[in-house]
Amino acid sequence: MSGAGLPQISTAPPPAAARLRDVASSPVREILALTQRPGVISFAGGLPAPELFDAPGLRAAFAHALDDERFGSTLQYSTTEGDPNLRRAIAARMVARGLPTDPDDVLVTSGSQQALTLIAAVLIEPGDAVLVEEPSYLAALQCFQMAGARVVPVPCDDDGLDPDALAALVRREQPKLLYTVPTFHNPTGRTLGLERRRALAAAAGRLGLWIVEDDPYGELRYRGEPLPPVASLPGAEDRTIALSTLSKVLVPGLRIGWLRAPAALRRALVVAKQAADLHTSTIDQAAAAHWLGACDLDAHIAGLRAVYAPRRDALVGALPEILPEGSRWTRPDGGMFVWVRLPDGWDADDLLKRALEREVAFVPGWPFFPAVPDRATLRLSFTTHTEAEIATGLGRLRDAVLDSRR
Ligand SMILES: Cc1ncc(COP(=O)(O)O)c(C=O)c1O
Repeated sequence: MSGAGLPQISTAPPPAAARLRDVASSPVREILALTQRPGVISFAGGLPAPELFDAPGLRAAFAHALDDERFGSTLQYSTTEGDPNLRRAIAARMVARGLPTDPDDVLVTSGSQQALTLIAAVLIEPGDAVLVEEPSYLAALQCFQMAGARVVPVPCDDDGLDPDALAALVRREQPKLLYTVPTFHNPTGRTLGLERRRALAAAAGRLGLWIVEDDPYGELRYRGEPLPPVASLPGAEDRTIALSTLSKVLVPGLRIGWLRAPAALRRALVVAKQAADLHTSTIDQAAAAHWLGACDLDAHIAGLRAVYAPRRDALVGALPEILPEGSRWTRPDGGMFVWVRLPDGWDADDLLKRALEREVAFVPGWPFFPAVPDRATLRLSFTTHTEAEIATGLGRLRDAVLDSRR
């Protein structure tokens, strides 16, 4: 038989899928690699302070999970929804934080990042619009872009997302969902006030929209009173997928997060997780459940706040002496981040080059913008270093600012 008429077979390996074409590797990850050089004081990563990791508590929790009596189940394949003890502990914490939750409402995920991937798999068709804050958490943007979404920014001001802008956007874009980090937002540190939360929740009910409320930082409050989750407010109760994680209160390396989903989405999310990884590590879930059972979580979190609050004050308090005149910045009540807007004409990438020469680092703000980047913005994280290191790092940053002026 001759091959005439058959298509030529290329010997080149097939290309990566088109959906990856427009998804850049996170510049933040690349910058983090630079900042891990010894001697660099980094305000770049959103890293919890390692000296606050409860290693002894985790050691005991893993020993318990590996107990002779239990290892038959804790080292075995398990259900996709998650360890029943862990789901109970998570539900109890969500109830204590003002969100009525049954263990069956909870799906344990491999970090809350996986929850974002599952939501994208379940809700987004290529070309669908997804509304996000401007700026927004970078890895969420990546996740929605990879699902083929059109990512559309919602106007934001110093108080966060503007719910009044939603109706017109929803009519124009017909989005599937709105993604928000209403408490101690990444990257800005802003918190959405109660009135706006109510307005957002009511809008979700009225406009026919899913809300994804991502809350990794809410437990890390240094000032003021906690606000109710958007998911608990009228209009949003059966419209909101609420996400959280142990990454910021225990350790990120454990990769334990969760989502609390309305009944209408639960089955689909479980199927998506089955397809992704069958289930989150059984041994890690068992250890997390034991840690939560054995630890006084309120006392543990009070310990984190007691260390992070003065670090926040040290950073925010020193900025007037460090940044060029005309800069503006947020004064977050909690979380890990301060967001800076340098005066017009400044470029945070240029400043970062000078800063790295002086062994100090931050993240430029432009990658966090879903549409038009503001190159004069940057993010500073205050959790990783002591007050003394923060002072040294900020002194280097001031020198980098002076270098840039020359
Ligand atoms: C807003 C936001 N969502 C999700 C995550 C992912 O966290 P996890 O470690 O639970 O995957 C982060 C991590 O920094 C974050 O800032």
